This record gives sequence, structure tokens and C-alpha cells, in this order.
Amino acid sequence: MARITASVYTSHVPAIGAALDLGKSQEPYWQPLFRGYDYSRQWLRDNRPDVIFLVYNDHATAFSLDLIPTFAIGTAADYAVADEGWGPRPVPKVIGHPELASHIAQSVIQDDFDLTIVNRMDVDHGLTVPLSLMCGQVDAWPCPVIPFAVNVVQYPVPSGRRCFNLGRAIRKAVQSYDEPLNVQIWGTGGMSHQLQGPRAGLINREWDQRFLDRLIAEPAALAELPHIDYVREAGSEGIELVMWLIARGAMSDAPPKVLHRFYHVPASNTAVGHLILENP
Ligand code: DHB
Ligand code: FE
Repeated sequence: MARITASVYTSHVPAIGAALDLGKSQEPYWQPLFRGYDYSRQWLRDNRPDVIFLVYNDHATAFSLDLIPTFAIGTAADYAVADEGWGPRPVPKVIGHPELASHIAQSVIQDDFDLTIVNRMDVDHGLTVPLSLMCGQVDAWPCPVIPFAVNVVQYPVPSGRRCFNLGRAIRKAVQSYDEPLNVQIWGTGGMSHQLQGPRAGLINREWDQRFLDRLIAEPAALAELPHIDYVREAGSEGIELVMWLIARGAMSDAPPKVLHRFYHVPASNTAVGHLILENP
């Protein structure tokens, strides 16, 4: 049977991708950020999964106000890197895992979560920046990736509780896949940031650190936090953090091993948080 061995949590910021692509990662502004991922790149090389289930949000790239799926699972064989207005990033295309993705869709939908099935889409910085942070500059991503897009852009957005329970359904789905695959689940986006309005630039370090503490130690209680608290405390784009609860819900109920924890401000307008949790 397939199993989820570990979860990875990381912010995404388009400027992080640009810094890597333009060879600026060792400049004084960026060096402390990328150093926080040195451990992670080595860990991923040493613990290469068969598949990454990557929870992220699309930023009006593949979807728009014409069509707003709350949860969308990629079942395609591959995904092109999106052009977000300045040409596609020079990174490898993303290879999918249609068989596992279809199995997860079947299981999770039968568990009463209404997923949108996506057979073709381009993937934006929400998905490619976490891959770049974890893999560095590579000719091919280390394994197939199942993109799982969550609407955190246009209200109404899903609650933390729903995301956490969806993670549990994804865990069950993976565990019922009849092939011994090593699967990692990644939760991306966040941490505190607000890109618009009078509070643009908002960062809340204390709240972010407490979120990391609670994500590790008491995720079910953290999942009860109402969405307005994310917006009030972590800014309008801080709501991206509900996606971390999907990954956390997919982990086993026993306490995880914390392999790595990192927090850094600033990266563009965003507080960058990063965790690697291993299943016992
Ligand atoms: C920034 C952060 C985001 O999450 C995003 O989607 C776009 C920009 C930023 O900090 O610049
Ligand atoms: Fe974002």
C-alpha cells in the first residue's frame, strides 16, 4: 500500500523564483532565506519520494473569476509552467501521476469532498516556487507531482476545519492505493502577508510562530480557527495558511517528528515559514 511519509510546509513568493532564475540567490537580501532551505534540499535528495501531493493555490492563472473551484485535483500526465505576465519561469515542466491522482479523486469524492477534476492546466508560482525552494535549480523535478489547487483568492474560501478533514480523507485515499508508493504531502502559501489596501505590508511574527507551534502540536484545535482570524491577524493573503492544514490532516494522528523549522522576514511582502514533519 502507498503511505504518506512526511509533510513539507513552505511559503511561496514569486520574487523567490525570480531571485533563483536571475542568479540572485547569494545576494545579501536573499542569502539568509535560501540558507534556511539548505537542510531541506539535502533532506529531499536523501528522502526522495515517489510522488509529491502538492497543495497550493492558483493566483488567477489557470482559473479566473470565470471559474472558481474550491478544491481542484490535477489528474493530467503533465503540466506546463504558466506565463504569469513575464514569460514562463525557466524551470522543468511538472510530470503528474494520473493513476494515483484518479484514485485519490475517487476515494475523496466518495468521502463527500467535492473535488474538481482538472485534466489540463498550467501551474503558477504557487506550485513552482515551493518546488524550487526544495529542489534548487534542476533539469527535472525529482518525482511526479499531483497538483491540488485550493481557492484562497476569491471569497468564500474553505474553512480550516474543512481543509484539515480533507487532509484526513487524502490520507485514507493514499493508504488504500494498491502500490507501495512513498508519498509526501506539501502544504504551501502563507505566512502572514497582505498585498493590498491600507494594511499592505502587514507581517505578524508572533502570530506566525504560534501558528507553527500549534500546527505541530495541536492541529485539530488550530483547524477550528475561523477564517476572519487569519485575515485580521495574518493579513488578507495570510488566509493561504489554511492549505497547510490539508497537509497536516494527512499526517498520522501520532505526534510527528519535527525535522526542520525555519522562519524569515522579509521576502518581498511576505513572512516565510517552513517546516518538515516526518511521520512516526
Ligand atoms: C507575494 C506573495 C504572494 O503569496 C503572492 O502570491 C504574490 C506576491 C509577495 O510577497 O510579493
Ligand atoms: Fe500567494
